[in-house]
Amino acid sequence: MEKYVINGGKTLEGEVTIAGAKNAALGILAAAVLTDEECIIDNVPYVEDTKVLLRAIENLGARVKYIDNHTVSICGGTIPNSEDLCVDDDYIRKIRASYYLLGALLGKFKYAQVALPGGCDIGLRPIDQHIKGFEALGAKVDIVNGGKVVAKADKLVGNHIYMDVVTVGATINIMLASVLAEGKTTIENAAKEPHIVDVANFLNSMGANIKGAGTDVIRIRGVQKLKGTEYSIIPDQIEAGTFMTMAAATNGDILIKNVIPKHLEAISSKLTEIGATVIEYDDSVRVMADGRLKSTQIKTLPYPGFPTDMQPQMAVTLALSQGTSVITESIFENRFKYVNELSRMGARIKVEGNSAVINGVEKYTGANLVAPDLRAGAALVIAALAADGFSTIEDIKYILRGYEDFDGKIRALGGQIEVADTDRDVQKFKLRVG
Ligand code: EPZ
Repeated sequence: MEKYVINGGKTLEGEVTIAGAKNAALGILAAAVLTDEECIIDNVPYVEDTKVLLRAIENLGARVKYIDNHTVSICGGTIPNSEDLCVDDDYIRKIRASYYLLGALLGKFKYAQVALPGGCDIGLRPIDQHIKGFEALGAKVDIVNGGKVVAKADKLVGNHIYMDVVTVGATINIMLASVLAEGKTTIENAAKEPHIVDVANFLNSMGANIKGAGTDVIRIRGVQKLKGTEYSIIPDQIEAGTFMTMAAATNGDILIKNVIPKHLEAISSKLTEIGATVIEYDDSVRVMADGRLKSTQIKTLPYPGFPTDMQPQMAVTLALSQGTSVITESIFENRFKYVNELSRMGARIKVEGNSAVINGVEKYTGANLVAPDLRAGAALVIAALAADGFSTIEDIKYILRGYEDFDGKIRALGGQIEVADTDRDVQKFKLRVG
């Protein structure tokens, strides 16, 4: 089983280029099936989640072609309009974004059958708000044997939908299901993340009529047909934030290129608050830290608040800061699973309900760790890079879901990290760098 082996204690310095946003790409790749014409989508991150979703879209009957690792062509015109259509294979049950095919196929064919999503184990992850939206448009939704969601409608008619919680997935899914519906749909209390705006912009480039994405009221006027398009996905704010905290935690100096600084404001302001230096340029940010950082308080919130997907990475940085910090996780119920792993490196963190009380320590010591989920796994890599001595991190499959060439990018910054298949590989690494 692949693992990372890391020799920590080096400051990371240099430049890193950020890939396309995974959570925008997943909604956009699904949205492409809404037209029978070809969509060419650029800046797609070459990560497991996008590869899995593209395989599922091809299995549906679409023509999918990688023009290069980051540019894909999707033509949904060859997907058969039949009630035999079912998205259910081993891969698709692994990724949460499979549910975007529900909204896209329902929107296109008035029928969809998709295996219930899996995803990282960070909370209950219900889809009641997705179902609420589909039913408001006139669909009947059932969960049938083997955990498949079946949605069907004679016709889809626009409606006024008030989200009970701010949810990225349901906001995107309702957009997908309503762009070809009759009449007007309003989504109130909509999520405002940059990837919501990116999916809306992609749909509008296909001829959809969506206004207000990025605010909490999105208005969609149904159109008859959507056409093919060419589109480039925005940079990944969470990959960028991960490298920003990597610079802070290792007392490094990293120029993070191909970003939209506006999308990083919550992260930049928190890093500045604890004493890191953040310099913003047009499409890059530079993060430097020299000496021990300070403590702070963080509460994760929907955008533009501090992103939940950056909570573990920030906790790792604060656990090395001077003083006591408190992080409150208000989005997911179970997003502190990395704390036990971090404690084995010497961190002093106590989880109380949905808050973690962090007493900063001077240093971590290397340890053998297991990645519990995607962002916690990335956070443990940061901790291992900051630690004294060697660490290994198992279950890196989670990390590969959302980070492209993560170890290669870290090595280019001076980090000593390799992928090891066997204990012998680990020993060879230790001899080489030790
Ligand atoms: C998306 O998940 C992202 N995943 C997550 O990123 C991210 O953490 C999350 O949004 C919040 O920003 C993708 O885009 C593929 P939600 P999603 O619906 O859509 C509750 C990563 O690391 N809820 O915004 O599943 C839910 O339980 C991943 O890249 C309902 O109650 O998140 C949660 O508490 C991890 N009913 C809250 O809303 C619903 O029907 C926010 O969930 C839907 C959600």
